[in-house]
Amino acid sequence: MEEAYFFMLSFLVLPFLYLIYNSFKSYNPPLPPGPIPWPVLGNFYSINTMDHVSLANLATKHGPLMLLREGLQYLVIGSSSTAAIEILKTKDRVFSARAVPNSVPLTRSEIDQLSFWADASCENLKNIRKMCRAELFSSKALESQELLREKKITEMVELLRTKDGLVVNLEKCVYATVFNMFANAFFSRDLVRLEEEGSDNPVKGLLRGIIGAIGAPNLSDAYPFLSKLDLQGVRKKHRELSMRVHALWEPIVKERRKRTRGGLSHQDFLDTLLDKGFTDYQINKLLEELVSAGIDTTTSTINRTIVELINNPESMKKLQEELDTEFNQGRRICPGLPMGTKIVPAVIASLVYFLDWSLPHGNDPAIYQKLRATSHLVEPLLLIPKSRKE
Ligand code: HEM
Repeated sequence: MEEAYFFMLSFLVLPFLYLIYNSFKSYNPPLPPGPIPWPVLGNFYSINTMDHVSLANLATKHGPLMLLREGLQYLVIGSSSTAAIEILKTKDRVFSARAVPNSVPLTRSEIDQLSFWADASCENLKNIRKMCRAELFSSKALESQELLREKKITEMVELLRTKDGLVVNLEKCVYATVFNMFANAFFSRDLVRLEEEGSDNPVKGLLRGIIGAIGAPNLSDAYPFLSKLDLQGVRKKHRELSMRVHALWEPIVKERRKRTRGGLSHQDFLDTLLDKGFTDYQINKLLEELVSAGIDTTTSTINRTIVELINNPESMKKLQEELDTEFNQGRRICPGLPMGTKIVPAVIASLVYFLDWSLPHGNDPAIYQKLRATSHLVEPLLLIPKSRKE
């Protein structure tokens, strides 16, 4: 009797187990090659810096599509233009979701309500992208910001002219110029001084801190069961930095809410957000994500182009072509690219047209080839300007 019972049970259970096994099999397609991971640790040892050079070295060994393990997480890295087109364009729908790093101090519902971290299929994100396209990045909006951009560039060139023959930190100067271009598009005023006292612009430190927190190797990402603990304090640090960034414009938002805009013809991005009924919290998050996504990308493209130009004037042409053709479709395509492609060539062209550049005595140009994992130059970009055109 017992035997018959056991037989019946096996008869029912085995097909069930087989179905489970099959479903696992079909959801686990073969993975790309990569360096052999250590148990539990994964490939932390071979990706200690994760900069472009170590990744390029790994790719020469394992191919343009490779697999790394960060703790318990899989990381697939595409490193050829064919892989990039496949991921960002051909299979764009499959790859349009984001793995949100644990350091982002937002709940899932906050992300879905108002954040570029939301899935591309999220209706709110589609609406934000649509609004930014219309109000910030459309030809009309960019044209209306044209005079302000020119003014900021003129101020930068004029300041550099006063430094004729002296060593300047060009990176710092470009950062303040681009930041104020954003500030003028958002609030119709500057937020930082072009010539800050001290070694660096404090705003740059805040935004770089946020980007660093997002990109930092984090135990909470590698081992999701630890996520609540925030052992490295990265989420806490991100939250604190966000609050300090919001404090830069909170008084402006407060003051603008009080103001009745009767008869005021100029409409900046803040006016648009207020007209659309955005809360202070929503304004803070949206502007923070726009400045952290837009300023570093733009300024590091400018700095690195200047470095290339110093080494090889042909590089400028190549880079412009790359900017012209960069990924023209897709759900995750950078919405700010129309703005970036206005700012980057205008700043570079002005720096090169109005000024000649040389390296401080004894500086080897190779020191400016070293980049951090976040693509920033390791060394401050110290150069000597010399006026060449009035
Ligand atoms: C040379 C300049 C720029 C470059 C190279 C660049 C590059 C990129 C890239 C590659 C992405 C996609 C990242 C991903 O899929 O994970 C992206 C996304 C994004 N960029 Fe840019 N960007 C530039 C300028 C800007 C500017 C000026 C802004 C805003 C004012 C901006 C705002 C954004 C935002 C909000 C996203 C997220 C979009 C989404 O996920 O829906 N970017 N950018």
